[in-house]
Amino acid sequence: MAEVVIVESKDAAGALVAAEIAALIENRPDAVLGLATGSTPLPVYQALRGRLDGVDVSQVRGFALDEYVGLDPAHAESYRSVITREVVEPLGLDPQRIQVPNGAEATIQHAGADYEAAIAAAGGVDLQILGIGTDGHIGFNEPGSSFASRTRVKTLTEQTREDNARFFDSIDDVPRHCITQGLGTILQARHLVLLAFGEGKAQAVADAVEGPLTASLPGSAIQLHPHATVVVDEAAASKLKLADYYRYTYANKPAWQGI
Ligand code: PGA
Repeated sequence: MAEVVIVESKDAAGALVAAEIAALIENRPDAVLGLATGSTPLPVYQALRGRLDGVDVSQVRGFALDEYVGLDPAHAESYRSVITREVVEPLGLDPQRIQVPNGAEATIQHAGADYEAAIAAAGGVDLQILGIGTDGHIGFNEPGSSFASRTRVKTLTEQTREDNARFFDSIDDVPRHCITQGLGTILQARHLVLLAFGEGKAQAVADAVEGPLTASLPGSAIQLHPHATVVVDEAAASKLKLADYYRYTYANKPAWQGI
């Protein structure tokens, strides 16, 4: 099962995951990071700014999880723009080494296969950062997504469009389609780190970590992964039945193991 780490704040989560990523890059300067958008990973990117001071990041590679279809990449809320603004520029990464699925309508039929080929050519993702939607999605793999799915076009649920409307002028501007790494793609990353904060995520976290494996709750796919870490605050952990066990386990974990 996933290792669950319950932390006291978003900042503590950010510091913990940033330390793991910094150690990865120090060991492997051309590490391949799986980058997530949304508000959840921001404390990680924030904490990385300090952690990577003096670390050579010129060779670091990255793949975003997903992108909207048909949104101009120059639009402030395209995931290409978000990754550039939140990750590439502040961390001083080489933009040429950071890829985002291509949501252009003209090439969308083969964009998924192209992205899979690019990830494979990079040797796969070393550490994949994940958020989770209130409906249990990871990436944009909405409920019903196959555990074997690869990068492809998906239709966003109305719930996801409503959740993301805050980034746009109106819900009418939120695209209806996206291109996302599949659950099968995500499961091939060597280490999954799923973060979640706040009461609103508590049910999705409990279902993903302790519920049955089901495509109806795509986040439950992490139970199939040999090295998955779930980092949550107390509110997001509040529906976990085994919370005390996770606390005990983490408190007694050998320091050399990292997360
Ligand atoms: P959020 O989104 O980080 O903005 O809550 C998470 C997700 O939808 O995967």
